[in-house]
Amino acid sequence: MQAITTQLDIREAVQTAKKTDKKVGFVPTMGALHYGHLSLIDYALRHCDLVVVSIFVNPTQFNNSQDLKKYPRTLEADLAILAPYKKNIIVYAPTAKTVYNGQIASKEYHFGALEEVMEGEHRPGHFDGVGTVLNLLFRQVNPDTAFFGEKDFQQLMIVKKLVQKEKLTLEIIGCPIYRQEDGLAMSSRNARLTQQQLHIAPFIFQVLLQVKNDFGTKSANQLKRWVVQQFKSQEGLELEYFEIANIEGLRPLSRKRNHQKYRAFLAVYAGDIRLIDNIALNY
Ligand code: PAJ
Repeated sequence: MQAITTQLDIREAVQTAKKTDKKVGFVPTMGALHYGHLSLIDYALRHCDLVVVSIFVNPTQFNNSQDLKKYPRTLEADLAILAPYKKNIIVYAPTAKTVYNGQIASKEYHFGALEEVMEGEHRPGHFDGVGTVLNLLFRQVNPDTAFFGEKDFQQLMIVKKLVQKEKLTLEIIGCPIYRQEDGLAMSSRNARLTQQQLHIAPFIFQVLLQVKNDFGTKSANQLKRWVVQQFKSQEGLELEYFEIANIEGLRPLSRKRNHQKYRAFLAVYAGDIRLIDNIALNY
């Protein structure tokens, strides 16, 4: 399979498809493709006639230069994984210069409260980088619908806000988290985990499941204290944050309200590898 690398070629390919009334979906990725990505692509293919998959490691969303340097880049293997999809998929794998029209820098978005918590709080500038690259990619690809994983739930909310802010017309659809059999959420960063780390990482999902189980009977503070304690006694995993928040505004929960949907979110370090996960609690 060959990847399209220029703005002109991707525009032409999508325009041609749209002329024959094909519905065009878009799955943006940073590559190092795994079953989580493939579940999004399959979801997109059920809703659209043609799916553009972008593979681009976006430099402006990494607030840690080591994380950017060590991020897995496996374009050849990614193309081989996508090859069986043949005519239903177009891969867009541009360089940074192409995506950014030569000016590799973030725009300042001010996503409000959404960017002040969790990933926004712990990765300053991250969502400006995500917003900037997606705004550019959306305009270059021009899809009808774009698909994002609930694995990065806060990102999904930011993207919906970005679409409003930039007055884009595409539809954004969130897709469920795809997990290994042992519960570990699939992530490109898992490729960097050692055997030992892979062995203990499913603990993250076990903790989230217990939180879901206890959500009806325990307060947010009680659950938080319990989670902190769990990770203190689990060698090899260090908790960065744990939050329970409503899904609309991602405001940390102080008092449960009826008719609000809540999720629990966390970020954990296994050595220098940062893993995030979340779970729906009452829906
Ligand atoms: P990346 O981490 O490669 O993820 C690409 C898409 O796959 C995101 O929408 C993410 O939520 C989804 N995804 C990752 N793991 C998943 C899993 N286990 N189950 C379901 N979906 C999963 O997220 C990014 O790239 C970047 O920030 C990007 C949006 C491409 C902008 O650069």
